[in-house]
Amino acid sequence: MRSVLRGNANMSQSSTEIRSSKGGLIESIRLRVCYDSRGDESMEADVKVDGFIGRACAPRGASTGRYEAVSFNPGGVEATLMIFSDYSPRLIGLDASDNQLLSRSLREIDGTKNFSRIGGATAYSISVATAEAFARAKGIPLYKALLPRGPYLMPYPLGNVLGGGKHAGHGTPDIQEFLACPVGSKSIREGLKANITVHREVRRQIERRDPYFTGGKGDEGGWAPHMKDEEAFDLVSSSLETVSDALGMDIGFGIDLAASSLWDEEKRVYIYDRGGVKRSPNEQLDYIIELAKKYRLIFIEDPFHEEAYEEFSELTRRLKNTYIVGDDLFVTNKSRLKKGVKIGAGNASILKVNQVGTLGDALDFAKSARENGYALITSHRSGDTTDAHIAHIAIATQSKMIKCGVVGGERLSKLNELLRIDEDLGGCNMARLEV
Ligand code: PGA
Ligand code: ZN
Repeated sequence: MRSVLRGNANMSQSSTEIRSSKGGLIESIRLRVCYDSRGDESMEADVKVDGFIGRACAPRGASTGRYEAVSFNPGGVEATLMIFSDYSPRLIGLDASDNQLLSRSLREIDGTKNFSRIGGATAYSISVATAEAFARAKGIPLYKALLPRGPYLMPYPLGNVLGGGKHAGHGTPDIQEFLACPVGSKSIREGLKANITVHREVRRQIERRDPYFTGGKGDEGGWAPHMKDEEAFDLVSSSLETVSDALGMDIGFGIDLAASSLWDEEKRVYIYDRGGVKRSPNEQLDYIIELAKKYRLIFIEDPFHEEAYEEFSELTRRLKNTYIVGDDLFVTNKSRLKKGVKIGAGNASILKVNQVGTLGDALDFAKSARENGYALITSHRSGDTTDAHIAHIAIATQSKMIKCGVVGGERLSKLNELLRIDEDLGGCNMARLEV
């Protein structure tokens, strides 16, 4: 195998390309700095397989879990590019169909637990771009390359319609996301239309209460009004009811508390500082149960901080017919999930490829979640790109839902891709929900 490193070896370089003269397999890798929907730096990879290019740009979170892969080497994005360029020849010539092998190779090269040497953004973009290039070379869509024999079911779209926390400014709710899920929809098209209608209705109801509302949105495209949690709950609940009645369709109510962002480790309380409320772990548990009952929540993500396995388990015992979902708790990491499975912490998990770093590891995590009866929800990040890969990944992992916002180019890129996949399959049945 002959590899050639291209690109300058100085700190201002913004892209680097490695090529192999060997045919088939991973033929070349090119990396460049690009930007996400928040304007933060990210990494994009072009990977060539049999002359076909796959391209992927890594998303980035704001309310990131402590145990996630980090996007870059501590030296920054340029340093990450420089470091990786020394190692990337090792990937040239690898079998592009073997996601696990690529994943192991990236981990070996990196040598840290959280990709802090070559960067999780590098691992993400190369692993996803490789899978895409392989699918292109085979002339099949990515979801079929990842799950050749099916069965294929459409995930329900779960969309952020109103929010606050780390995704929006002062005066917005403490709770990060208020979500709609059209559980009664019979097709993805119906589901998307329902979520868009809820999003519009939420705006209408905000404007009715606040004539000075500017139309401001949070990072994921949910409305960001000047409002406390209680009012937001009532408003979203009333909007969901209005749209459900109008469309004659059940639409579920979900929330993501991203509670690690509320948790004060020293004082051991959840601080809702915009609402001026503090809650002990027990009070938090009671509060969540009360909310679940009052608003008939079908989806509750990260109701407790990322170490609170016991509280997750208690809540899962006490609430039936609700997805209790670990995001920062599991961080798409198999060993963290295993710990949860042992004590029944949650019954569902978010799947974010960039939390673990590589597509291979994320697919492995998904398999383990399914085997243990955990529902999967494939998710975007608050800082995302116009890539549509997670639409394919959601189908290939047999996710029950896909959480990727309602409006905005980087959100609709995934949702519109689901419409294309639906067409490709000649109409795809919706996933089976347990709530
Ligand atoms: P993040 O938020 O992408 O900022 O981490 C999304 C989430 O918490 O689900
Ligand atoms: Zn979350």
